[in-house]
Amino acid sequence: MSKLDDLFAFLSIPSVSAVESHAADVDKCADFLVNKLTSIGFDAVKHKTDIHAIVVAHSPKVEGKPTVLIYGHYDVMPVDPLAEWESAPFTPTVRDGRIYARGASDDKGEIMAHILGVEEIIREQGSLPLNVIFLLEGEEERGSTSLYEFMRRPEAKQLLACDVIVVSDTGMAAPDIPSFSYGLKGLCCFELEVSGPAMDLHSGVFGGSVANPITTLCEMIATTHDANNHITVEGFYDGVSEIAEWERESWRRVPGMSDAELAQLTGVPELRTERGYTGAECVYARPTLELNGISGGYEGEGSKTVIPTHALAKMSCRLVPGQDPVAVMHKVKAHFEKVCPPSVRMKFTMQHSGEAYLCDPHSAYGKAAQQALEETFGNPPVLVREGGSIPIIAEISKVLGKDALLLGLDLPDARIHSPNENMRVEIFEKGIEMTSRLLRLMGQL
Ligand code: BES
Ligand code: MN
Ligand code: MN
Repeated sequence: MSKLDDLFAFLSIPSVSAVESHAADVDKCADFLVNKLTSIGFDAVKHKTDIHAIVVAHSPKVEGKPTVLIYGHYDVMPVDPLAEWESAPFTPTVRDGRIYARGASDDKGEIMAHILGVEEIIREQGSLPLNVIFLLEGEEERGSTSLYEFMRRPEAKQLLACDVIVVSDTGMAAPDIPSFSYGLKGLCCFELEVSGPAMDLHSGVFGGSVANPITTLCEMIATTHDANNHITVEGFYDGVSEIAEWERESWRRVPGMSDAELAQLTGVPELRTERGYTGAECVYARPTLELNGISGGYEGEGSKTVIPTHALAKMSCRLVPGQDPVAVMHKVKAHFEKVCPPSVRMKFTMQHSGEAYLCDPHSAYGKAAQQALEETFGNPPVLVREGGSIPIIAEISKVLGKDALLLGLDLPDARIHSPNENMRVEIFEKGIEMTSRLLRLMGQL
């Protein structure tokens, strides 16, 4: 089988973790990984959970050598809007040197690059120069509930004991400029529902006499930021440290991340950042409070004169080191309670959350990773933090007491979570090469 065949078989399984009707596919995907890892000599086990299985696989023990734990997630985001895909999301297709499929870059392409990098060493040398553990979960895109529970089990520490954690599930600056990320944002998700009248009302018969829940929801949300785009929730910035001067300096040189390039890439007329910070600084190191969706009232064709019973906002915060995600949700809730007028009722629902992650990029393992990236891609990696989150990483790192090295392969145009998600064939092949280099280098530490 060619390398692409393995990846295509993996990508063909629609392992959408958030959608109940795909549960059997998610399970099939875990079986696929167990079979593949077993075939290259790993002791691979599918651990059942209340939601989706966790795959843990150990290489044959090499005494006196370090152990690398490779984390990844085999679940993928839903595919909608389906009509926007140029080829079916679970029929991997190569066009213009790119593999198009849901999960190509987030995170199946990276997982398979790691597996095939390991396989390459075994094929060439008969065995690995160190110990490798794969930890592959099926719930990252829905909050990693089962893996949080798994990490709290007393046996997890021993089962997953390692010297360093490697994760390829983050961004990469450009095809020839790798990224070494030393931070991830934390995340908390919540909903705010505002309700008014007991039933939808005729907006003329009752109009002007009751508060409109959508208007009120919008007014409440508008109080969360000031004119400088600073968040006004009391205590929101507690524990947040200022960005170090060396970071500001180094981030000014990240390709594609100048304010002009960010505006170009996202298609906005101009950026709107927190006052005093560049776009890159806001993405990497400033906490945010975002509206992800808003609904209520009549959203169908034509017009309907109605005062709706309720309105709903789905929201989330991206957090930085020092912020406690649950404490932040309580502060946001208190803010909304303070600004909620007596003419409506509000309901605040907390959803999943996870802490930010930060490590020292200059450790011995960190340096080996940067060397593997440089030798593979021809340029030294840029040192960045991520605007995105992999909430479970802080937990894994804390429980195992080791750093997680984030060696992302997602290019800015990989369209992760979006229609036409892709990975360049060249990046996939270099991912395999980078993995085998990295493991050989780490085997010498
Ligand atoms: N792989 C991404 C995170 C990511 C992508 C970090 C690109 C940096 C650069 C991960 O699968 C993801 O999508 N995480 C979610 C959080 C999850 C709880 C839904 C996110 O960041 O929104
Ligand atoms: Mn991911
Ligand atoms: Mn994702």
